[in-house]
Formats: sequence, C-alpha cells, structure tokens
Amino acid sequence: MSIFLISLLILIHLSPSSPAASDDQYHLKLPLLHKPPFPTNPTQSLSSDLLRLSTLHKKSPQLPLTSGASTGSGQYFVDLRIGTPPQRLLLVADTGSDLVWVQCSACRNCSNHPPNTSFFPRHSSTFSPHHCFDASCKLIPHPRHVACNHTRRHSPCRYEYSYSDGSLTSGFFSRETTTFNTSSGNVVKHSKLAFGCGFNLSGPSVTGPSFNGAHGVIGLGRRPISLPSQLGRRFGNKFSYCLMDYTLSPPPTSFLLFGNNLAVKKSYTPLVINPLSPTFYYIGIKSVFIEGVKLPISPSTWAIDSFGNGGTIVDSGTTLTFLPDPVYSRILKVFKKLIKLPSPNETTPGFDLCINVSTESRPSLPKMSFKLVGNSVFSPPPSNYFIDTAEDVKCLALQPVGLPSSFSVIGNLMQQGFLFEFDSDRLRLGFSRRGCAGP
Ligand SMILES: *[C@@H]1O[C@H](CO)[C@@H](O)[C@H](O)[C@H]1NC(C)=O
Ligand SMILES: *[C@@H]1O[C@H](CO)[C@@H](O)[C@H](O)[C@H]1NC(C)=O
Ligand SMILES: *[C@@H]1O[C@H](CO)[C@@H](O)[C@H](O)[C@H]1NC(C)=O
Ligand SMILES: *[C@@H]1O[C@H](CO)[C@@H](O)[C@H](O)[C@H]1NC(C)=O
Ligand SMILES: *[C@@H]1O[C@H](CO)[C@@H](O)[C@H](O)[C@H]1NC(C)=O
Ligand SMILES: *[C@@H]1O[C@H](CO)[C@@H](O)[C@H](O)[C@H]1NC(C)=O
Ligand SMILES: *[C@@H]1O[C@H](CO)[C@@H](O)[C@H](O)[C@H]1NC(C)=O
Repeated sequence: MSIFLISLLILIHLSPSSPAASDDQYHLKLPLLHKPPFPTNPTQSLSSDLLRLSTLHKKSPQLPLTSGASTGSGQYFVDLRIGTPPQRLLLVADTGSDLVWVQCSACRNCSNHPPNTSFFPRHSSTFSPHHCFDASCKLIPHPRHVACNHTRRHSPCRYEYSYSDGSLTSGFFSRETTTFNTSSGNVVKHSKLAFGCGFNLSGPSVTGPSFNGAHGVIGLGRRPISLPSQLGRRFGNKFSYCLMDYTLSPPPTSFLLFGNNLAVKKSYTPLVINPLSPTFYYIGIKSVFIEGVKLPISPSTWAIDSFGNGGTIVDSGTTLTFLPDPVYSRILKVFKKLIKLPSPNETTPGFDLCINVSTESRPSLPKMSFKLVGNSVFSPPPSNYFIDTAEDVKCLALQPVGLPSSFSVIGNLMQQGFLFEFDSDRLRLGFSRRGCAGP
C-alpha cells in the first residue's frame, strides 16, 4: 500500500492563486453546515446510526475501502467547489470512510438539470478519469467482470463501493481540481483530487431521507485515498474540526481545517492503529467517571482483540455515542440513581433514560468524564450526552453495543463544542474546549 501512498503524494500539487505564497496556504478552512431539513427526531437519528454501524461492521479484506458508510442523519456537510469553473456540492464530512465521491451527471447540456445537485463533468475543463492501469486505480474496489485493457487509451478506472445494506455507489474514479479558501480568505487550488464520480447510486445509505440531500461524501479516514491523506504533507498530515451545536439559534459556524491549529492549547491522547480496520481513528479509554467517581469497569472491556474487534473510534458520521454493554449498564444505573427528575408521561423508543425537565429551567445533570490513554481527560458538558427528544424531555444519548464483536463509537453529539485535531504524523488526537472560535 505504501508505494501507492507515495505515488499519490507526488501527484498532489497545490498552486496558490496569488504568487505571493504565504504561510496561510498551509491552512485550508472549510465551513461545516447542517442542511435543512435536519432530522431533529432522535429516534430517526438512532435508526440511521444503527444502519451506519451495521455497515461499518462489514470487514472484507479483498476490498480496500468497504469499511466506511455514510448515512446522512445528524451529519455535518462541507460545501466543496470542484471543477473548472467550480461547481458547488454539499458533501457529508465522514471520519468513518475514506473515499471522496460525488454524484455525477453525464448531461451535455445541463441547463435543464437542477443546479448544484450533482457534478457535471462535461462542464468542467479539468475533469479527467484515471486510466484503469494507473496506480491510483488499484486503491479502490472495482466492479466485477470489468477487465483493464491497458493498451487502450480510453479505458477509465471504474469503481464500485458497496455498503452491507446493499447500498452502492459506482462510476469512474477520476481527477479534478478543487478550490478552497484558506483561513485568511485566499483561494487555493488543489489540482489532483482523486475522487469517485458516481453515476450509479442505489440503496438507503446513499439516497433517500437518511442521506439528507447530500451530493456525496468526503472521506476523512486514515487510508491513502481520503482527503486528508491526499492533501498530506502540505498540511502537516493533520486536520481538525469543530462541530457546533446546530440546535442553537443562530447556529454557530462549525469548520473543518487542514493544517496546523497552533494557536489552540490541546490535550492529547494517542491514536491507536487497528490493522483490521485501517480506516478508523481509534483512541483508548481507560475509565469513566460520573461526578468524579470512577466506575468499576475492567480495562479489558475497552481492548481491541486479535480479531480487530472492540476498541473505540471517533466518528463524525454517527450522532449518538455507543459504549460496551457493561459500561452502558453501569452508567445508566448511576444516572438513574443521581437524577431526581420525573419520567415523562410517554416513553421515547430506543432510549432507556428520559426525564421531564419542565420544572427546571436549567436542570443540573450529572457530570461524566472519560480518562483516556496518555492521562488526558475528556469532560463533555451534559448537553453532549443528553439529547432533547420533545419539549421538556431529555434522554440519555448513549447506546449499548454488544461485545465482543462490536466496538465503541464517540459520536458527533459527544464531540460538539470541542476542537478535535487528527494528527496522523504524530499519531495523536488533540482536543480542546477552547478551540472553536477558530485560529
Ligand atoms: C450553484 O453553484 C454555482 C457555482 O457552480 C453558484 O454560482 C450558485 O450560486 C450555486 N447555486 C446555489 C443555489 O447554491
Ligand atoms: C440547452 O438546453 C436549453 C433548455 O433545454 C435550450 O434552451 C438550449 O438551446 C440548449 N443548448 C444547447 C447548446 O443545446
Ligand atoms: C485491448 O485494446 C486494443 C486496442 O483497442 C485491442 O486491439 C485489443 O484487442 C484489446 N485487448 C483485449 C484483451 O480486449
Ligand atoms: C450503471 O449501471 C448500469 C446498469 O446496472 C450499467 O450498465 C452501467 O455500466 C453502470 N455505469 C457505471 C458508470 O458504472
Ligand atoms: C471564499 O470566501 C469568499 C468570502 O467569504 C466567498 O465569497 C467565496 O465563495 C469562498 N470561496 C470558496 C471556494 O469557498
Ligand atoms: C412534565 O411534567 C409537567 C408537570 O408535572 C406535566 O404537566 C407535563 O405534562 C409533563 N410533560 C411530559 C412530556 O411528560
Ligand atoms: C404528555 O405531556 C405532553 C406535554 O404536557 C402532552 O402534550 C401530551 O398530550 C401528554 N401525553 C399523554 C399520553 O398524556
């Protein structure tokens, strides 16, 4: 795999539009958005999380990229400009997958197609499909029964990326120019983005309401084909994001940044590599505290076993947080004991602990924190693990997962309001409660 990584890095080349190169070409900052209609129904979030997790579980060694999937509910979107002249598309930002792909349309005269809903390669002067014999073409899974004739000049690289629920995106693995704004407003062009131009899409993971109107996915995972890997060394093999609480009004700006975020002092925990799931960013949890009291949990509960099961991933594409059954049960028990507020008059399907907060304008909820490997402590506010499910009703936004075949997920609700920096060179995850105002 490393030989392809090197060839990709050589392919990448950035040309700042202004000749006065400055430091800020090493920061690319993209706004992260929520596209309405956003499903505020937590039961719907739960069902799309469960669909996503069922697809994340698929491990198929012969296909290099099947590990990721993206159901769009509760997602953050990136407004990406792609092509020459740039076309705008809204893509799901996903740390749980690697491929960058957009919905493509083969129209020649696209004026009667809805604008900004798919990419029109024939309207771009820089679109170029990879040849099926290119090294980059070997990085992605191909449809069956498509042979590469390397003596033919026009033999495009076909890809087929399938999810375990049967959803599929397939088309041509291609090269395009993307246009980014730097953090100080300069425009930077990245001329060799490798991406999937998807002509055939099917299934609930990539169409339908759970995809929530997105036009594709930006894979932010660890493999060579992801956007951070492609931008690579020019941006210090680092990216960070800040997911803000989209229910606030007016909604604050969330962002995705490639490059250094030096101004912010962060706590760190090592990123753990699981060779059997090389896409994901794993971290190590050591213990859970509620109101400062450590829960009695065996350290082996958090381990990754020799089959690659277990462990904890940080995922921008899952809304809720999923913890091993024994941990979840402990937390639930302690929270039930500590919370004195009444239950609502109706149950919320899929949630075990809900409270009626109508009598408290600012209900005080127990503080939970996670001690991580490297002795840093992640202390999210209760709004990161209690979700509003109806007026005056809050539910514990945690879910149990069965060991040993499963793994834990720190979902995007739990990450809200923190800067997270994924540093692949130093193999560490930095986080800070203060980084969200941006560098
Ligand atoms: C669609 O994208 C074009 C650029 O390709 C942009 O000028 C236009 O404002 C976009 N339209 C909408 C509705 O976002
Ligand atoms: C493109 O389509 C529009 C609307 O259907 C039509 O008016 C126009 O003449 C077409 N242009 C070309 C070059 O075919
Ligand atoms: C490959 O393409 C060349 C040129 O088009 C053609 O002559 C040759 O028969 C093809 N080979 C196969 C195995 O299809
Ligand atoms: C799309 O699907 C159709 C029918 O399944 C197939 O004939 C076609 O080759 C596919 N196109 C691409 C680009 O994969
Ligand atoms: C860059 O920022 C300017 C000003 O905020 C905005 O008008 C423009 O559309 C942005 N361009 C891109 C590629 O995001
Ligand atoms: C919450 O409690 C108040 C006061 O007891 C009650 O009027 C209201 O119906 C309850 N709401 C729910 C959703 O249970
Ligand atoms: C529960 O309480 C809410 C808010 O007071 C009310 O609108 C709803 O009708 C109640 N449901 C039942 C089953 O009593």
